[in-house]
Amino acid sequence: MQRPETTLFMLPSVDGKISAGDADILDFDVDLPKIKGVKEGLWQYYALEKKTDLHSLNTGRVMAKIGINNRKGEPKKAAFSFVILDNRPHLTAKGVAYLSKWVKKLYLVTTNSRHPAFKLKLRNVEIIYSRKMDLKSLFSKLKGKYGIRKLTIQSGGTLNAELFRNGLVDHVSIVLAPVIIGGKDTPTLVDGESLHSKKDLGHVRALKLKKCTVLKNSYVHLYYDVLN
Ligand SMILES: NC(=O)c1ccc[n+]([C@@H]2O[C@H](COP(=O)([O-])OP(=O)(O)OC[C@H]3O[C@@H](n4cnc5c(N)ncnc54)[C@H](OP(=O)(O)O)[C@@H]3O)[C@@H](O)[C@H]2O)c1
Repeated sequence: MQRPETTLFMLPSVDGKISAGDADILDFDVDLPKIKGVKEGLWQYYALEKKTDLHSLNTGRVMAKIGINNRKGEPKKAAFSFVILDNRPHLTAKGVAYLSKWVKKLYLVTTNSRHPAFKLKLRNVEIIYSRKMDLKSLFSKLKGKYGIRKLTIQSGGTLNAELFRNGLVDHVSIVLAPVIIGGKDTPTLVDGESLHSKKDLGHVRALKLKKCTVLKNSYVHLYYDVLN
């Protein structure tokens, strides 16, 4: 394969939501531990997360939401590396500096020539800059130039939609939390543009179930191959 083998690893509710609502103040990591009937089994998601690939892809948007820009102190050095897509920028210089202290290597992918990461010149931060974001060529570069063979995708619904539609997701590994969240504007596993015509049905991805594990406290782990 000319790109890393990829697995989307997520914690959705039974109705497919990946956050508790449409405001950034709401977040599964913070809110689910407070809900009786849900909090008890949540540890199983974090235990499975520890077994994911050594490289994980996420967005500056999610990093900013979980408060990376405001984190203080010295994080414990992790064994994993991050590939972070961030154009706007959502990450500040402080956020990038914190990430570089935390992860083994940070690949910062951006179309923003004025991203704060450029000024920092950190040894374990590789900036992958291009004028236009081309996910397919980014993925082949991740393998060809940087030797990343396996990649866990942990971004939100907007980017996940682009990744699926570009045929860049090989496996889906989801830990279903026993809860219904609701809300039509609440992020789901895959958001992006809705399909509008029969022609758009070409974007639909069928899945082949490879593993289904009933976990404790009404959680379920589902593992699929994507039929790209
Ligand atoms: N439960 C879980 O397992 C889980 C895991 C992850 C996230 N989440 C939740 O998901 C939510 C975030 O989802 P989201 O949909 O708002 O954000 P997202 O998909 O994580 O990020 C969207 C951003 O990705 C960047 N991007 C770069 N290249 C892109 C491309 N080719 N196409 C589209 N976007 C591209 C854009 O950043 P720029 O604005 O910089 O251009 C865009 O704003 C949060 O609520 C988070 O808590 C939950």
